[in-house]
Amino acid sequence: MKGMKIGIDFGSSSLKIFAEGKGIVVDEPSVVAIDNETGNPIAFGQAADKVYGRCSDSIGITKVIRDGIVSDFVMAERMLRYYLQHVCGNRIYKPNVVIGLSSNTSNLEKKTFLDVVTLAGAGRVCLVDGILASAFGCDVATDKIGGRMVIDIGHNITEYAIVSMGGVVASGVIKRGSYEIDKAISNHLKQNRDILIGPHTAREIKNKITSANLRECESALFVSGKSNLDEMPISFEITSTEVYPYVDEQINFLVQDIKDEISRIPPELLADAADHGIKLCGGGSLIFDIAERLSNQLGIRCEGVSEPIQAKIRGIGKLMLNNDLLENNGYHFIFKDEIKNKIQ
Ligand SMILES: Nc1ncnc2c1ncn2[C@@H]1O[C@H](COP(=O)(O)OP(=O)(O)OP(=O)(O)O)[C@@H](O)[C@H]1O
Ligand SMILES: [Mg+2]
Repeated sequence: MKGMKIGIDFGSSSLKIFAEGKGIVVDEPSVVAIDNETGNPIAFGQAADKVYGRCSDSIGITKVIRDGIVSDFVMAERMLRYYLQHVCGNRIYKPNVVIGLSSNTSNLEKKTFLDVVTLAGAGRVCLVDGILASAFGCDVATDKIGGRMVIDIGHNITEYAIVSMGGVVASGVIKRGSYEIDKAISNHLKQNRDILIGPHTAREIKNKITSANLRECESALFVSGKSNLDEMPISFEITSTEVYPYVDEQINFLVQDIKDEISRIPPELLADAADHGIKLCGGGSLIFDIAERLSNQLGIRCEGVSEPIQAKIRGIGKLMLNNDLLENNGYHFIFKDEIKNKIQ
């Protein structure tokens, strides 16, 4: 097959790209800054994220993926085109793209992704199950009989799968991810302390001091925001103990949703998975102590993996470079013209 192979994980938080022979070459926020007057994009990824929450009315910010699906078609295509050109340069043959999608993606949403990817410059596209890719990225997808379980806690969504013999035997998607904690922290500060904070500050508080179990040794952070009373800037201290009840509530919601999903898994598959434990990946698995908390509440040993945010794109890279794996899972590269026939 002519053309370079490229793997894509277009997440709600970030776009990750894996290039054949190079590895992970792009990991950028799925954000585009737009000139509101002309409607043209003026920055992508990190550069656009820097102005998020800090720009005037003349610049708009759009998050191109939400809940695992394309939320801004035009800007998603422009963003992907920009990064594909950056990765592929002026090669004669168009790249062959493998993209991971969540298992509940409807045919219409799949077609939207295919359109975005082909308009952005792909020659052929292969849609794969993103959570299978996460399982490969966490090294739990073996060719042995018997279920192994992976949970990918992302920004907007949490996906899980049980894999056996290199394929998915049970999977599901929960519309809840790490971003719920950002929102809970912002809401708490607004309601209880009359302080408004921007998206970067909420993320910083979450990443640096929150914990899935109350920390024995309290941690604190100085951050800035705006008083909701007099609209003036304010610097303030926030502690892990203060935010814990709001984080705790969100994690309880997530645990409940995971329990509901797990209750649908056939008993023997679940028993296999319980024997081997659950691997956690995705950015949400970096919440301090989340593995211990989930282990206790689910009654199944959970453990994180190294570099969990890149697990899915690592797995897409593995799938992409192994034709047997792709074929065994029924995945094929299709041309743009074939899209209509293959996806109805
Ligand atoms: N140290 C950390 N502690 C807690 N959360 C973190 C940490 N680092 C990153 N995150 C969060 O992980 C999320 C990003 O994870 P990830 O890249 O897996 O999401 P995504 O794949 O883009 O989104 P989705 O799968 O929902 O479409 C963000 O909400 C980010 O704030
Ligand atoms: Mg993800």
